[in-house]
Amino acid sequence: MKNGKILVTGGTGYIGSHTVVELIEAGYEVEILDNLYNSKIEVLDKIEKITGVKPKFYKVDLKNYDDVLKVFTDTKYDAVMHFAGLKAVAESVEKPLEYYENNIGGTVNLLKAMVKNGVKRLIFSSSATVYGDQGVAKLDESMETGKGITNPYGRTKYMIEEILKDVAVSDKEFEICILRYFNPIGAHASGLLGEDPNGDPNNLMPVVMRVAAGRIPKLLVYGDDYPTRDGSCVRDYIHVVDLAKGHLVALENISGGVKIYNLGSGVGTSVFEMIKAFEKESGEKLPFEVVGGRSGDLAELIADPSLAYKELGWKTELNTADAMRDTLNYLKNN
Ligand code: WQD
Repeated sequence: MKNGKILVTGGTGYIGSHTVVELIEAGYEVEILDNLYNSKIEVLDKIEKITGVKPKFYKVDLKNYDDVLKVFTDTKYDAVMHFAGLKAVAESVEKPLEYYENNIGGTVNLLKAMVKNGVKRLIFSSSATVYGDQGVAKLDESMETGKGITNPYGRTKYMIEEILKDVAVSDKEFEICILRYFNPIGAHASGLLGEDPNGDPNNLMPVVMRVAAGRIPKLLVYGDDYPTRDGSCVRDYIHVVDLAKGHLVALENISGGVKIYNLGSGVGTSVFEMIKAFEKESGEKLPFEVVGGRSGDLAELIADPSLAYKELGWKTELNTADAMRDTLNYLKNN
């Protein structure tokens, strides 16, 4: 599908924007739909600085079906990459209806507009949270999902996966690839793109970045008495550029029905190890204080990424040290 026309929802966001860059550099014609709730319009200029191309942009909220439909009138897309969605776990517990309306309602509107315009290829940004608590650290795609999910955000991702499976059953022309992310970190090597959420961040690395930038006095480490090698939680951190490249490979290999892949490194890193990695790269101590555990946090979550390697030939090439280097470079530039 080289040089195909791709609509990227959430394309000014953290993972979406890095994926837009990889798509353009691979020769695709990209258009972006985003409501700018958790991103900034200036990202378009940064994409242009990196690639020389400023993608066509639609400031559209997926909750507004008529506006979504209009996006499909001017361009016959070959595929859609769907990143747009609310993703703050704690916020989803406080505002479940906002998450269900936005993430699920928005996805249904997108799918309806795609069907109406004969666009039947979709790559969906899902999450390891759909696995819930499997009682084991290493997660693979054969495991049952949907049980023990601790928050509405994770449930929206699970429910959307089920909706996509139903759509594929109802319409054999659909080709769907569900990509389950583990913990995206890092930034584009140019220093122009990175994780820059609006409002207060929830995830570890954006908080670390705010501490390093002096915007937050210290990192609160949520618990150091977990059954892990150093007591802090272990996660599978994946460089956002590796993640973006995974989307490209998924697009190039998309085929009928629904395919599901974990996108992770297969390597676990603890919170304390992340702090040490950041300090090593920055050459400065990162102030932190250990506090009580965060509800819903599991001790260890690591991808088994072997299926993506076996079927797509994809695996991560960058590591946490690369991610810390690129994060610091992004910090310096923004
Ligand atoms: C990582 C570790 C925390 C912040 C998220 C969400 C969702 C998903 C990515 C896409 C945990 C610890 C964190 C802090 C800390 N996105 N931590 N102090 O919890 O694995 O889940 O994964 O789907 O955003 O599901 O990621 O970055 O929030 O936390 O100690 O200020 O860092 O306890 O162990 P998590 P995270």
